[in-house]
Amino acid sequence: MKVTIVGAGNVGATCADVISYRGIASEVVLLDIKEGFAEGKALDIMQCATNTGFNTKVSGVTNDYSKTAGSDVVVITSGIPRKPGMTREELIGINAGIVKTVAENVLKFSPDTIIVVVSNPMDTMTYLALKSTGLPKNRIIGMGGALDSSRFRTYLSLALDKPANDISAMVIGGHGDTTMIPLTRLASYNGIPVTQFLSEEVLQKVAADTMVGGATLTGLLGTSAWYAPGASVAFLVDSILNDQKKMIACSVFVEGEYGQNDICIGVPCIIGKNGVEEILHIELNDQEKALFAKSADAVRGMNDALKS
Ligand code: NAI
Repeated sequence: MKVTIVGAGNVGATCADVISYRGIASEVVLLDIKEGFAEGKALDIMQCATNTGFNTKVSGVTNDYSKTAGSDVVVITSGIPRKPGMTREELIGINAGIVKTVAENVLKFSPDTIIVVVSNPMDTMTYLALKSTGLPKNRIIGMGGALDSSRFRTYLSLALDKPANDISAMVIGGHGDTTMIPLTRLASYNGIPVTQFLSEEVLQKVAADTMVGGATLTGLLGTSAWYAPGASVAFLVDSILNDQKKMIACSVFVEGEYGQNDICIGVPCIIGKNGVEEILHIELNDQEKALFAKSADAVRGMNDALKS
């Protein structure tokens, strides 16, 4: 199984690293426009093989898409990240041009591939990739919900003082500081609703921390985060390549689901070898429905910027 990651920066290289050491794919190609950069990252990762104990072949190329031929999955992380104080939305102009060109290039050599879009603003970049390539909607998946849900589970784990892996929780809606919707009502610890352990006030703080989870890290690091984003992409790629059919919140094209049309937005999906196998319906309460509708409006508004 072959994975190409376009953009060998912080997120792309971390994702390649996790895919390799977890043996998710047999081959990983990193591609970047910076001369020698992807080659360097690939070599560095390959030199972990003996100490980490993996057999994945990792290579790097500068802009040579022929080396990506026959990829089962292509991850697009190329583009600029946020700096402190920036919103994901402010990246739209530069990243739109990059994502469109990259998607066209990868399809020349991997016409059957599934594309995972990471570049921000991710919901809009996913929509752009879908519209510009004309691929069926199951083959374009935006990664945001996997990361936001992971951050949500982390903050819940800190509030509960219990391991994050024993906590189930999901974030749906747009992948933005004000548009994501941490579903506190449905979060559980070993099957027991967290509402039984945490007060409404604490839950609201957990949700608020989750929503600005990326911005908090950008403030601390001076650029956007990479460990959790890279691991979240690898988690998604694993479910595709190994047909795990995991339920993961992903940004996908909706046609009537959750009352929305003609946008890509975070909804619970079953992810397997065909990409999006199914969009799951969760019964939302009136408040959650209203938040989802507001989030969808914001995503739609951002997509309008693609027209200008
Ligand atoms: P980075 O700056 O470390 O890496 C980006 C890489 O893309 C650079 O190495 C650059 O040379 C390369 N690049 C730029 N144009 C290219 C092109 N046309 N072809 C090939 N490579 C090209 O940035 P980082 O931190 O890795 O973030 C990448 C993107 O992912 C950003 O847009 C960021 O906002 C987004 N992101 C999305 C997340 C999500 O949950 N969806 C989470 C974290 C970051």
